[in-house]
Amino acid sequence: MEIDGHTKLVAIFGDPVEHTLSPAIHNAAFKSLGLDLAYVPFHVRPSDLKTAVASIKALGMAGVNVTIPHKEKVMRFLDDIDHLAKEVGAVNTVVNKKGRLVGYNTDGVGYLLSLREDTGFVAGGKKVMILGAGGASRAIFYAVLEAKPKSVVISNRTLKRANDLAGEFRRIFRKAEIRTVPFEKNLLSEEAAETDLLINTTSLGMMNQGRLDFPVESLPKGSVVSDIVYRPLATELLKKARRRGLKTHDGLSMLVRQGAIGFELWTGKKAPLELMRKAALKALGLKNAR
Ligand code: ATR
Repeated sequence: MEIDGHTKLVAIFGDPVEHTLSPAIHNAAFKSLGLDLAYVPFHVRPSDLKTAVASIKALGMAGVNVTIPHKEKVMRFLDDIDHLAKEVGAVNTVVNKKGRLVGYNTDGVGYLLSLREDTGFVAGGKKVMILGAGGASRAIFYAVLEAKPKSVVISNRTLKRANDLAGEFRRIFRKAEIRTVPFEKNLLSEEAAETDLLINTTSLGMMNQGRLDFPVESLPKGSVVSDIVYRPLATELLKKARRRGLKTHDGLSMLVRQGAIGFELWTGKKAPLELMRKAALKALGLKNAR
């Protein structure tokens, strides 16, 4: 892509930001559609977030992605926040609409769309178990609840965090059946037997983090296992699930899908999904892994 006098900037604000795959994904997409846009990473420290957000307007940027640890705090600096992002309590995509900064959250919808595209799984009427109650869990949990599942069980090492999140979402989704369970293998094993979809939203299984010791053997035949970790792409959890013949969904699919929604918000054009996934795999040093 040639940078010229018309080029507009899109960026990601994060701390740290060095490991982001988003520039590779979006620049490949901009190039393939011949768009005069360039995507760059900015290492923005929390104390600089307000100034960084003001720069979106000052520099006439098309928009930004916001990642850890800014997804919640950024909300106070925006002009408008989409209803879903408000209820999730986090923004990962900002669009500059003629000088008005509007915040969206594409994580949850991106998650569900990619899950359906990869495995055919539709959450309506199903029993879902979510591991983790952090920022990533919040967006996915919300999207799952919107799909009207039969029930959702949420488990987290710090049980209070799961209880708080469950309580918050019970107030929004009054008819939903939401339960919490302690993050203990024997209890998870009992719950697993009643699960149609297992989602890992914790950082366990990620390179250089702890191991996720989940009783995959207790999941029923026909269940689906999903992991938002994508470094490595084939986590131990997904490998175990595949060995059992279960369908799986990896974290890169979600990353690419949420990015594709952002791309469409910034450009008004349909995102080239396959090309974006290939660019992400290349940036991870992989070729055609699924
Ligand atoms: P993110 O935005 O990626 O979700 P986060 O808000 O820091 O990041 O949440 C990380 C999640 O991984 C939490 O659910 C965390 O559990 P706690 O709430 O108990 O901290 C979970 N997690 C991280 N390390 C873990 C570990 N060693 N064992 C179990 N859960 C872990």
